[in-house]
Amino acid sequence: MKPAVKVAITGAAGNIAYSLIFQIASGNMLGKDQPVILQLIEIPPAIGALEGVVMELDDCAFPLLKKIIATSDINAGFEDVDYALLVGARPRSKGMERKDLLLGNAEIFSAQGKTLNAVAKRDVKVLVVGNPANTNALITLHNAPDIAPTQFTAMTRLDHQRTLSQLSAKLEVAHTRIHRVAIWGNHSATQYPDVFHTLIDDKPVIEQLDMDWVENQLIPDVQTRGAAIINARGASSAASAAVAATLHIHDWALEGAQRDDWVSMGIKSNGDYGIDDDLIFSFPLLCHDGAYRVVQGLEINDFSEQRIRLTEKELIEERDAVRHLL
Ligand code: NAD
Ligand code: LMR
Repeated sequence: MKPAVKVAITGAAGNIAYSLIFQIASGNMLGKDQPVILQLIEIPPAIGALEGVVMELDDCAFPLLKKIIATSDINAGFEDVDYALLVGARPRSKGMERKDLLLGNAEIFSAQGKTLNAVAKRDVKVLVVGNPANTNALITLHNAPDIAPTQFTAMTRLDHQRTLSQLSAKLEVAHTRIHRVAIWGNHSATQYPDVFHTLIDDKPVIEQLDMDWVENQLIPDVQTRGAAIINARGASSAASAAVAATLHIHDWALEGAQRDDWVSMGIKSNGDYGIDDDLIFSFPLLCHDGAYRVVQGLEINDFSEQRIRLTEKELIEERDAVRHLL
């Protein structure tokens, strides 16, 4: 039996965590042979609800779940962790723009970055889900100078899966035949779902699509899908976000992306494709053996370039708004 790994989850009594924790405990994220210790973190008013989640976890008798810590002390919660899933944040409610959340949530991530820096494993893998995810991840990274910047990521995998799903429905082909989807930039309405490199089997998908559909339906639908779900459900996406987080860590940490396919993750830019190098920006990536690298050498046409610059500009503005915490 492998030694157990420690997984911290903030916002552990929230909606996303209510799906995510059970995905992890059942082995979907880290493998069916990987024991886990869950370090569940909540703010004091939600500790009672968290105790209920712990009771439910106990009742599942998951073979891989070796220990559960439930705490409102982030020092104890992040102690020695291998993975930190930063989900806890105030979610966007109806009519609220993501930028409204920026300042309120920024303080949370600066404190969590400092604590990770002090007590987490040096090779901890951090996934920020709480919005605005990219800028929250940038704040976390800046406050954890002793951990390599490569270890801080933000979630755009849900956008990636949404794009796959829309293409699959439009073209009436199984998702498994569609490869090389790319999400560029911010997890927001400026993100750019890029299908110019996408293949069905080995044929370019773009040859089978009407550009009007790509520009006026696919791209805006993916960009505003989160808001559409909030309008329909009265709450932001939760189970699908938990599945996307599971896939993100699974592909990064575990086996590498299946079929050598691309994944999308917000990572610290190192200037690839001319992107400002002090941003957490989503790129198409290949994952292998616990590491990732940006897919190189893609031809970026004018249509894509314009949209990539727009989402970069938004991220620069978000960074400027939280400059005091960097
Ligand atoms: P939720 O309100 O149901 O749960 C959030 C939980 O976080 C609450 O239980 C709250 O008590 C807790 N929390 C708040 N501050 C905390 C702190 N400082 N430390 C620990 N816990 C804290 O929200 P949710 O639906 O689970 O969504 C969580 C976040 O994920 C939101 O910001 C939402 O916008 C975001 N989200 C991101 C994506 C993505 O694709 N990146 C998708 C969906 C939702
Ligand atoms: C989503 O993409 O579903 C969420 O990020 C939406 C939101 O703003 O909470």
